[in-house]
Amino acid sequence: MVIRATIMTLTSLLTASIFSLGLAGSTTEILMDTVRYYDLSNVQGTARGWEREERILLCVPLRDAEPHLRMMFSHLHNLTYPHHLMDLAFLVSDSKDRTLEVLIEMLEALQAHEDPKQPYGEISIIEKDFGQKVNQDVESRHGFAAQASRRKLMAQARNWLLSATLRPYHSWVYWRDVDVETAPFTIVEDLMRHNKDVIVPNVWRPLPDWLGGEQPYDLNSWQESDTALALAETLDEDAVIVEGYAEYATWRPHLAYLRDPYGDPDMEMEIDGVGGVSILAKARVFRSGVHFPAFSFERHAETEGFGKMAKRMQFSVVGLPHYTIWHLYEPSVDDIKHMEEMEQERLAKEAEEQEKAETEKKIKEHFSDPNNQWEKDKSELQNIAKQASADQKQGSKKNSKPKGEDTDSADSQEERAQRSKKAGAEDGAKVVDARKKSNPVKAES
Ligand SMILES: *[C@@H]1O[C@H](CO)[C@@H](O)[C@H](O)[C@H]1NC(C)=O
Ligand SMILES: [Mg+2]
Repeated sequence: MVIRATIMTLTSLLTASIFSLGLAGSTTEILMDTVRYYDLSNVQGTARGWEREERILLCVPLRDAEPHLRMMFSHLHNLTYPHHLMDLAFLVSDSKDRTLEVLIEMLEALQAHEDPKQPYGEISIIEKDFGQKVNQDVESRHGFAAQASRRKLMAQARNWLLSATLRPYHSWVYWRDVDVETAPFTIVEDLMRHNKDVIVPNVWRPLPDWLGGEQPYDLNSWQESDTALALAETLDEDAVIVEGYAEYATWRPHLAYLRDPYGDPDMEMEIDGVGGVSILAKARVFRSGVHFPAFSFERHAETEGFGKMAKRMQFSVVGLPHYTIWHLYEPSVDDIKHMEEMEQERLAKEAEEQEKAETEKKIKEHFSDPNNQWEKDKSELQNIAKQASADQKQGSKKNSKPKGEDTDSADSQEERAQRSKKAGAEDGAKVVDARKKSNPVKAES
């Protein structure tokens, strides 16, 4: 077990903190330059931390994240919380791609940025594997069987990252996933303004049109329910309840499902479990001993267990149902198959339409010729018709029959009812089928 911590830049943090703590020139004697003094009552976190120069530790767990790094750095570029007040901590674990190399390249560019507002504070990269064996593809990651052990390892990863990088001068910790696609640049201040111990936004994801355009994504932010509490009682003490799976019907109110796109983004909802995509927490929560349980805590682990533990220690845990950020859409294997089928269908339809257009063109050319056979046939037919109707007028009206009483409409009502019932049943079956095919919502972690 090796931890490699690379300090990319070392701002003169020690001096900075001592000055900002107002110690310079105070009666406290700084006897030796090997002694550091910190007054932790100054790092409790307040609603307007940027005005008080409160430092934030931004934690980002990474695993085979190379494809998302560019997007993440674009977010880092845009964050409006003063960059020099934010320290970055990355955990690179169980990765087979070039996450570490690309990360270092991008950090070097960011820290050397010509705009003096761009570089961040101290940056730490922690490299450590946790033996996470589940494949990174969407199916494996989200499959039910893999959840408990996967979540326990994720919890360990978060705890290692945090305990290695949290410093006495941090007032806040902001956890952020690498695969967030869209989020307000002001998200840190927006969350901080609520002055809660733990706070999360709502997390949705965009979908292709044929899947409905958008979907709740993070089901790990929820309020506890009596059903789930009763369920927890029946489970083994090592069991971990995970959300979004038929195996555990918890009937909890999920932050994700309460979203109203026109709702007040500042509206708060008390929650018990939290999702890990974007958590702002006061550092004092962690200092008090709340962590990400890598074991079953009240039948929960990782971020959900963290939420429960924070609640248990009387910290405020809040979600914002109408403040939404967007997780990247990663098509599942089924989605990709479906998209390929749709593409085939589209091509076939295009070919068919082209063929139809050509046929129509040919017919048109043919018809516009006044001497063609069809024109001759037509006038002949018209003559025959005229003759026939003249004949009919002469013939008596005796043969006429009242309308609406032909055998066709004698179809009994009962028969008709039977028919429509059957059609209804078929429709019902189709609905079930469609639901089966549609993308199930899965809990993120
Ligand atoms: C960052 O801001 C630029 C300029 O407004 C924008 O083009 C880019 O999409 C933003 N990045 C993200 C990830 O939102
Ligand atoms: Mg994710």
